[in-house]
Amino acid sequence: MKRTFTALSTTTIALLGALSGHAMAAEKLTYYCSAQEDWCQLMATGFEEETGIKVNMTRKSSGEVMAQIKAESNNPKGDIWWGGTGDPHLQAAEEGLLEPYVSPMRGELHDWAIKQAESAGDATIGIYSGALGYGYNEEVLEANNLPVPACWKDLLKPEYKGHVQMANPNSSGTAYTTLATIVQLFGEEEGFEFMKGLHKNINQYTKSGSAPIKAAARGENTIGIVFMHDAVAQAVSGFPIKVVAPCEGTGYEIGGMSIIKGARNPENAQKFYDWALQADVQTRALEVNAFQVMSNKAAESSPMAPDMDSLTLIDYDFVKYGSSDERKRLLKKWDDEVSVIPQ
Ligand code: G6P
Repeated sequence: MKRTFTALSTTTIALLGALSGHAMAAEKLTYYCSAQEDWCQLMATGFEEETGIKVNMTRKSSGEVMAQIKAESNNPKGDIWWGGTGDPHLQAAEEGLLEPYVSPMRGELHDWAIKQAESAGDATIGIYSGALGYGYNEEVLEANNLPVPACWKDLLKPEYKGHVQMANPNSSGTAYTTLATIVQLFGEEEGFEFMKGLHKNINQYTKSGSAPIKAAARGENTIGIVFMHDAVAQAVSGFPIKVVAPCEGTGYEIGGMSIIKGARNPENAQKFYDWALQADVQTRALEVNAFQVMSNKAAESSPMAPDMDSLTLIDYDFVKYGSSDERKRLLKKWDDEVSVIPQ
């Protein structure tokens, strides 16, 4: 009798242990986020509330997450990477750091979002889109008697010295999009001359892409090179920020989402992936003034969002500028030839 009890309880304990181990593993998601912090947070909380899965979130800029995933590739810690510009997602896909996945939600998405997936063997997908530009604080501009800028080339004027801020293209996807946009707009030689001229007017290269317009909103900077929707978000929050669609035309991003290869919680990563592509989940972006164009065709947009159709957009070559060689080459060239020039 006693022996039976002991045997049973040992089995039961082993079984319970296995079950709880499984349940614990099933209850977690390690989530790397490269969109704006409050949107990252909203997504984490929303997913937790809907599924009960505990989300462990880190917000880092697009280039930083790409570098982190690479550094962790022998022992991956992250499950899903949501948000941030598509170029580093594409580079990570090419370098074999991501896990291909075809979501049942794909049929609800715009073509540009699916194209991004198809160009990367389904290892990433488009979740939003937004055009690059800049914003300025009109009060600071006036106080400094500065002219109103309207074009990219206006930013080279000597009177803007110390008044322009952008992020570092190594860490920030926004700033890499800026570099790639300028190269595509003006050609590589003239584009790098532009970046060198711009460098003379830059007061600081920030880590995160949207920081320059947040600094402008606080009156600590005058002009911030950012995605137009990030500038709109500051204007909508009541700051004296004006948004500029540069007269020469501009580039844009396709924000990405990817499952990390070797994810410890792959099922939860897929659950998050499918959930994040739903129209009602994407519409929630408006709660935190995220004014990108969403990839689900049925997601709602705000009348305050920049109207992509009215902009002169370049035919941004995501395959080329998201390729590992090209991204590394351009960043190295920027490091060697632009960032080192004395200001
Ligand atoms: C902001 C924008 C996003 C963009 C992201 C990139 O959050 O709203 O549209 O994808 O910046 O961040 P990063 O810090 O890498 O430039």
